[in-house]
Amino acid sequence: MEHSQWVWAPMVEASTRAAPGEPCIMVIFGAAGDLTKRLLIPSLYNLFIDGLLPEQFAIVGVSLDAMDTEGFRERMSRDIRQFHTRREFDESAWQALSSRLYYTAGSFEDESTFTTLRDLVLELDGQYQARGNVLYYKAVPPSVFGLISSKLQTSGFDRCTGWKRIIVEKPFGTDLASAREMNRQLLSFWDERQIFRIDHYLGKETVQNILAFRFANGMFEPLWNNQHVDNIQFTVSESVSVEGRGGYYDKSGALRDMVQNHMLQMLSYVCMEPPNSFAADDIRDEKAKLLKAVRVYSPEEAFRNSVRGQYGAGRKADGVNCPDYRHEPGVNPYSSTETYAALRLYIDNWRWEGVPIYLRTGKALWKRGTDVVVEFKKAPASVFRSTAVKKVGANRLIFHIQPEQAIQSVFQAKIPGPTMQLQPVNMRFNYGEAFQASRGTGYEVMIYSCMLNDATLFSRTDLVESSWRIVQPILDAWFVYPTLDFPNYPAGTWGPKAASDLVEQDGRRWFEVVTTETLEHIPLFKDADPLFLSHLSMCLRPRRAAPDDIICRKGDPGLEMFLICRGEVEFLDRRGEPLMHLQDGDCFGEIALLLSGARIATVRAKTLCDLFVLEKSDFDRILRDHPQFAEVLTQMAHERYEKITGRSLA
Ligand code: BG6
Repeated sequence: MEHSQWVWAPMVEASTRAAPGEPCIMVIFGAAGDLTKRLLIPSLYNLFIDGLLPEQFAIVGVSLDAMDTEGFRERMSRDIRQFHTRREFDESAWQALSSRLYYTAGSFEDESTFTTLRDLVLELDGQYQARGNVLYYKAVPPSVFGLISSKLQTSGFDRCTGWKRIIVEKPFGTDLASAREMNRQLLSFWDERQIFRIDHYLGKETVQNILAFRFANGMFEPLWNNQHVDNIQFTVSESVSVEGRGGYYDKSGALRDMVQNHMLQMLSYVCMEPPNSFAADDIRDEKAKLLKAVRVYSPEEAFRNSVRGQYGAGRKADGVNCPDYRHEPGVNPYSSTETYAALRLYIDNWRWEGVPIYLRTGKALWKRGTDVVVEFKKAPASVFRSTAVKKVGANRLIFHIQPEQAIQSVFQAKIPGPTMQLQPVNMRFNYGEAFQASRGTGYEVMIYSCMLNDATLFSRTDLVESSWRIVQPILDAWFVYPTLDFPNYPAGTWGPKAASDLVEQDGRRWFEVVTTETLEHIPLFKDADPLFLSHLSMCLRPRRAAPDDIICRKGDPGLEMFLICRGEVEFLDRRGEPLMHLQDGDCFGEIALLLSGARIATVRAKTLCDLFVLEKSDFDRILRDHPQFAEVLTQMAHERYEKITGRSLA
């Protein structure tokens, strides 16, 4: 299941086992919807198996779909088999949980829906001894939040004498004004302490671990500032397209759907000051302070610091063809909604002044991967001037949020041998290897925290409004000047070239996480030695080429070899006529490197090209250390040389 991830599993030791949540009746509005079957019920099932649901607990589903409790139990029993995240399905646990499922049908407009619901909740409260506590989960569109809240207030739920908490799902508004209005409305019915706004990214173990990493490991804190950090990059790359959600997505777009919420939440964890304690409000106060320090752009700055994209037809990462975004069901054929957004932000405080923070996210990209890269300032290379070392790479700390769940530190090491030469190497911590974890949906911890009245992982009125304040000028600028160049990236690529330019203007590059699995997809590297792939993945740097760009020119010195990740290039003969074509998975530029000579042909991008570059020094080293690869490459170079020049390579 796409959302499943490694999550915290309860300790085996009884003495350290977490306590179950507080007794309550959980009411799910929108119980017939997707969220309930895909995430909520599977999470409750996981919590139940892990002993984290209270004994005094029952669930009531409410929605328009006409069915009774039996029908609801049957439907959920079917769905759980498809959506549970455990390795094996535990029938007896499910039977025990499903006996606590109840259902009542009705429209949210009708008083009677709420009076019936109230009677059922009161009855179950007595039956399960839930102490009058009710947890309302609004798995419904925000347009009905107000209606449901007002009906709950007037239909006698105060007869349940315990606590009342509500969990609400995003979107929390569609812009700053609507977010303020929504907050105003919610706060007219509920106290801030009763409202639990879900951002499911905060439920991810790897996101929560950012705080543990920063504040439980004193060695990083002295480096965590503009003296030592050069830039920070946040990437949420999705390989899926809008996949049937066109109607919703076309009104939203990448900025609203991902940046305003999930990405700014991650940013605040990475960049906030140390909190006084791990109490919910201490953490949320620091997040709020950080978000308030993010520069709010003028219209001109908003343009200069942002890039938008929309995908065109192409082949997605899974190999399936994908239509132009504008031809997706539910999407306006003239839509100017962005399916990709890249931003450069600044945090105007003492810690981060001058450090660019880059964010990018998009749909239908070349791979799925959420990563945060903290790139440190380079060490001075001058100390190595009397050695063979030509350059010293930057240290990087990479938080792999998903699907890889790891933390990686990249540093330089001496290559064994008689001379001083450097190579980037890795230190890595993998969640799966270090912890006994189980697969979950990410919603377990959110529901459990709410039952315990722990709001740490939930957003707050001021946090929601501060994040809207940051993206609002960009939304405004994009609205006033719709772009004319959409679609500007084919599905399955790295996104629009302008996003690479945004970072390259600053003399930097997006850091592409290249895994050995990525390389294995390239025919040349299929079944290659894992050590070789790992060496190679550490040395590749990304380069984009727009259609018609000359990537290398005949006669120029050969300084690098290229791997085509996505796109098509053509070799040109003396008259500029195409001689041969290469595409995804091919490589070129190796002949000049092998000969330590000049390029024998000009290579031009035929389409937008996503390339990996391997510099000559790394190329030489890899060939020396991996003779099998050297042999394959030399063979290829011989054949190609003959094809291009008509002569054989001596
Ligand atoms: C949701 C967005 O909030 O997050 C989706 O509405 C997006 O468009 C999803 O696909 C991404 O979540 P995850 O957990 O798969 O990264």
